[in-house]
Amino acid sequence: MKTIIFIGPPGCGKGTHAKRLSEKYGIVQVSVGDLLRREIKEGTETGRKVSALLREGRLVSDQIVMELVKGALSEHGGRDILFDGFPRKVSQAKMLQDVLPEFQRDVNRAVLFVVSDDEVVRRISGRRIDPETGRIYHVEFDPPPAGVKVVQRDDDREEVVKKRLEIYHRETEPVADFYRKLGRLAEVDGEGTVPEVYEQVVRALGL
Ligand code: AP5
Ligand code: MG
Repeated sequence: MKTIIFIGPPGCGKGTHAKRLSEKYGIVQVSVGDLLRREIKEGTETGRKVSALLREGRLVSDQIVMELVKGALSEHGGRDILFDGFPRKVSQAKMLQDVLPEFQRDVNRAVLFVVSDDEVVRRISGRRIDPETGRIYHVEFDPPPAGVKVVQRDDDREEVVKKRLEIYHRETEPVADFYRKLGRLAEVDGEGTVPEVYEQVVRALGL
């Protein structure tokens, strides 16, 4: 029963690789961003609280995030879990360390995707998503097949991407150091092609 963490800037490929791993190895992908977008779509109280924050690329409160994380841990007991985009702040990493023993878990591996800011902008501006399946495409690198209807995310506008990158460097990069000090961090060069990066991820996870 593994607990895996993906850390990396917006658009580095966390979702792309998490989805592939979940399809191939049955690992449960828990993307807090996806869970928040679902709350917004369903118009729940949480959704109403967070919708402006997501649209502006700002972080949601630790309290809301931890509720979603604990819910996922309860729901998927006994299975391998991959947190895609959580923890995003050292405070969240510490809270996770506190709750994992309740679920007989510990973090096995944190994977850091290293991608430059310029590449992030290139990837995010071309990203398209199939709202039916959640499959992620890129207009240039991985175009959707003819006939598949795709949409663009609300927070993928250029000025919002800049804000998300700024928050990443300030709040999330220290999370990588947190896991490095615990001896759990593996760094992956995220700038190669999708298959090249995927191979490194599989190796880092010992799969
Ligand atoms: P979240 O949804 O997690 O967004 P993010 O971290 O900004 O990451 P993205 O989903 O944008 O990128 P990704 O790394 O998954 O890349 P992808 O695989 O799609 O979070 C959204 C918001 O929710 C946050 O801003 C915040 O408001 C809130 N939130 C979430 N978690 C939170 C937390 N813990 N605390 C507080 N708030 C939280 O790939 C991107 C594109 O590149 C695609 O088009 C893909 O096809 C393409 N691509 C991928 N890999 C390659 C490659 N190797 N070569 C070429 N193209 C590639
Ligand atoms: Mg994602």
